[in-house]
Amino acid sequence: MSARTEGAGPAGLASALVASGALRDDWIAAFEAVPRHLFVPDRIWPGIPDGTRQNPLVDRAADPQAWLTAVYSDIPLTTQWDDGRHTGDAVGTRPSSSSSQPSMVFAMLADLDVADGQRVLEIGTGTGWNAALLSHRVGAEHVVSVEYDPVVAEAAASRLRPTPTLAVGDGRQGYAPCAPYDRVIATCSVGEIPLAWIEQTAPGGVIVAPWGPEYGGEAVVRLVVGEDGTAGGHFTRSSAFMRLRQQRPDLPPHDTYLGGRDWPADGVRSRTSLSPAEVGGWLEQFVIGLRVPGAFWTVERYDDGAYTLWTYSSTDRQSWASVDYEPGADEFKTVQAGPRRLWDETEAAYGWWVRSGRPGFERFGLTVGLEGWTTWLDPARN
Ligand SMILES: C[S@@+](CC[C@H](N)C(=O)[O-])C[C@H]1O[C@@H](n2cnc3c(N)ncnc32)[C@H](O)[C@@H]1O
Repeated sequence: MSARTEGAGPAGLASALVASGALRDDWIAAFEAVPRHLFVPDRIWPGIPDGTRQNPLVDRAADPQAWLTAVYSDIPLTTQWDDGRHTGDAVGTRPSSSSSQPSMVFAMLADLDVADGQRVLEIGTGTGWNAALLSHRVGAEHVVSVEYDPVVAEAAASRLRPTPTLAVGDGRQGYAPCAPYDRVIATCSVGEIPLAWIEQTAPGGVIVAPWGPEYGGEAVVRLVVGEDGTAGGHFTRSSAFMRLRQQRPDLPPHDTYLGGRDWPADGVRSRTSLSPAEVGGWLEQFVIGLRVPGAFWTVERYDDGAYTLWTYSSTDRQSWASVDYEPGADEFKTVQAGPRRLWDETEAAYGWWVRSGRPGFERFGLTVGLEGWTTWLDPARN
């Protein structure tokens, strides 16, 4: 049993969340009145907090104690794979619905800064736990929750008493019949904030959503909606949510770039002193994603610990770069091809971040308006 599961049960989890600062005084009554176990289905695949690995199935019928321990641990629980196409006990390919990690749930609710009686729109009903917490806090009559997957939505509806307004549909549209909202919270991540969320939020209202660029990395952003119809604010914390279904990346395969030719094709060879290992962290990916738009990467691993970092342009669908990592080396071979020089762009972004003092997620911000969106480092707080 790890520190994360010790004292499993609502009280143990509450103590851990209070100690970590995620569960604040104003949410303790909701945590106690709305137990997570009432919202978690019998079959779950517990994850690890950063979302990079899933554990095997825990089936309540087979092992009720393991199920309860998982439910009252500070971990996300996958409840559906592959948009419901996956059946059986094994892990699927892509988690498509879950009960989010409790510390993230309450940290985002703290970011939302909701007051009694405010009208709240949630995107991504999932199990219904977050909608139930919000309903306890502001009254179910003030909460609207939208879920795209009808099977997931139906299960949540069967658990939610009292029942907030539940809609099945594409949350990118928000939910106009009950607008305007004082608060909007998304529990799936986006690469673009839908304008409908801003349009349906009253001026001065707040939108909290996990946001991540195409290259990788992700953080929760807290936007304040202005009178002029724009919304802006800082990122608050690192996150790793499943992507809103309609914004999942649709990336060209490797062969698109090499065009059937053998590497290095017409690529230009060079050397770099920047190790590809330096750019792989979650924060580093986020920063590179902000400054190198329209790029994504894969890693090709070899037996001896060496690997190749491949970077591709999703905008011109031609440019690519490869960098060969070798353990212990202080120079690395690069090849770049196409209209963009993707490794040079990556190096420039990383160098800018280092020269800026390696700022964390919380020093970056996002502004969204009719003209599009921009990200920034360090202007005045909203
Ligand atoms: C991490 S889960 C939500 C967790 C949930 N808030 C809870 O308390 O259990 C993300 C959910 O977003 C849903 N989702 C994905 N794309 C969506 C969309 N376009 N509109 C509404 N819901 C969407 C998924 O089906 C999934 O159930």
